[in-house]
Amino acid sequence: MTPAPPATRKHYGDDHARVRRLVSGAFTTRRVEAFRPVVARIAADLVSGLAAAGRCEFVADFGQPFALRVLYTFVGVPLDVEADVQRWTSDVGLLFGMTFPAATFDITRTGAPHLTYSGGIHCCLGAALARVELQESLPRLAAALHAPRADGTAD
Ligand code: HEM
Repeated sequence: MTPAPPATRKHYGDDHARVRRLVSGAFTTRRVEAFRPVVARIAADLVSGLAAAGRCEFVADFGQPFALRVLYTFVGVPLDVEADVQRWTSDVGLLFGMTFPAATFDITRTGAPHLTYSGGIHCCLGAALARVELQESLPRLAAALHAPRADGTAD
């Protein structure tokens, strides 16, 4: 038996519509735009840390803390639980045997998940926030990290 994850993506019908209606008001473009300066500050802080260190494990040092800090601040969760949530996330990954594809460019790879926000009734609820995250982080990363190189192979 597969345990049901708490996220809305496994909900269907009235149950899904009810949960989605409850949450969607929090993720409007207007709310997200008002939050853009905070996303910019979080991105700038993390990017300056990477640039100062000179090397990084990108997911652990940037991807994860960036996404978590933005989301926590957006929904008002205190940042001091960040370490706990990171641990739970990796425990859950191990529990469900979730693995991430190696960082090799392989255009013939099969089973790769798509990287859009999808559409229809399950279309990504956080798409506006995710777009702002990308807009505020990618240019800062490109400007701060000169000639980045892979430091060994991906696990
Ligand atoms: C680049 C970042 C992101 C990508 C590519 C992405 C992509 C997606 C995709 C493809 C789905 C549809 C899944 C399905 O059809 O079952 C989805 C659903 C969802 N996403 Fe995202 N997402 C991103 C960021 C976010 C963020 C930042 C949040 C929240 C803060 C979020 C919240 C959700 C939720 C709640 C759903 C379920 C919606 C529903 O079932 O009604 N996502 N996302």
